[in-house]
Amino acid sequence: MRKKIILVAGGAGFIGSHLCRRLVGDGYKVICWDNLYSGRLENIADLRGNSNFSFVKTDITKKFSFKNKVDEIYNLACIASPGGYQRRPLETLLASSVGVKNLLDLAVQCKAKFLQTSTSEVYGDPLVHPQKESYWGNVNPVGERSCYDEGKRFAESLIYTYRNLYKLEAKIVRIFNTYGPKMHPSDGRAISTFLSQALTGKPVTVFGDGLQTRSFCYVSDMVSGLILMMKSREFGPINLGNPGEFTILKLAGLIVKLVRSSSQIAHLDLPADDPVKRKPDITLAKKLLGWQPKISLEEGLKLSLPYYQSQIKSRSKVS
Ligand SMILES: NC(=O)c1ccc[n+]([C@@H]2O[C@H](COP(=O)([O-])OP(=O)(O)OC[C@H]3O[C@@H](n4cnc5c(N)ncnc54)[C@H](O)[C@@H]3O)[C@@H](O)[C@H]2O)c1
Repeated sequence: MRKKIILVAGGAGFIGSHLCRRLVGDGYKVICWDNLYSGRLENIADLRGNSNFSFVKTDITKKFSFKNKVDEIYNLACIASPGGYQRRPLETLLASSVGVKNLLDLAVQCKAKFLQTSTSEVYGDPLVHPQKESYWGNVNPVGERSCYDEGKRFAESLIYTYRNLYKLEAKIVRIFNTYGPKMHPSDGRAISTFLSQALTGKPVTVFGDGLQTRSFCYVSDMVSGLILMMKSREFGPINLGNPGEFTILKLAGLIVKLVRSSSQIAHLDLPADDPVKRKPDITLAKKLLGWQPKISLEEGLKLSLPYYQSQIKSRSKVS
């Protein structure tokens, strides 16, 4: 039987590289596309040379012609860290509009299934807690985060339209904060930043009073959720995330303790439009996909630590 061919756009990024590894391990042929804006070749170094894996440096917003047949397309191609997308706001908007359209056209051409990684950011600074998929959100369309939030909202609308127009099996998951090895140590997201700071004895920088809450999902749980969604008959949107809710201050304390660091907590100004509360309602994922996260925050932080230790070691060798 022919092996299923799966395209992972954004596959050299943090979650994408874990997804590629899992799919190759499950026996599929994986084509990874990435323009390497925030992804890195070192994330997929162990897969290069595997005959079931190929990498092509591609920007999904540019015109491409692809003659081969693919069976499934996972789209993770979008800069996801606030620092990253605020440095490239136009590229971020285009990735979620022109880029998603290009991939949807490819899915129509190949009659492939399509899965979009949307985000909890579509709920903005939510007025409803925890966030269910039926909540329409509270997003500032002209704020500092809007290139990401509104881009992802536009992408959801595009996918809904393609599904209706072309009967495409196009699915949406809304990912809540996810962490683990291969998340770039200096991309500015809370866990990667705190681990890097605690390991180097620098102050752990908490925005505002740190009482804002987030929910953190370990990456292996997230990858299982993405694959279950692709295999299911569901279209979503379905929330994927770990409903455990922690203040940022509590997270910083946990990390300092885990690392046995001498770092102090330092408070910085709260960025604009920073959500106060974030916690997924995962009733739908449990019911429709039989999915729920298995790894607790403490376990996930322990599993992530060796990666950040090795990153810091290799950086100090270079400098
Ligand atoms: N990690 C999280 O907490 C989180 C939360 C919500 C949603 N998501 C979504 O999941 C996906 C993956 O996130 P991540 O955390 O792995 O981020 P990431 O930045 O590590 O990965 C995104 C990848 O997309 C690539 N990319 C960006 N624009 C591209 C383009 N135009 N063409 C081709 N490649 C492009 C980047 O180089 C990178 O490798 C993103 O779509 C993100 O919005 C992630």
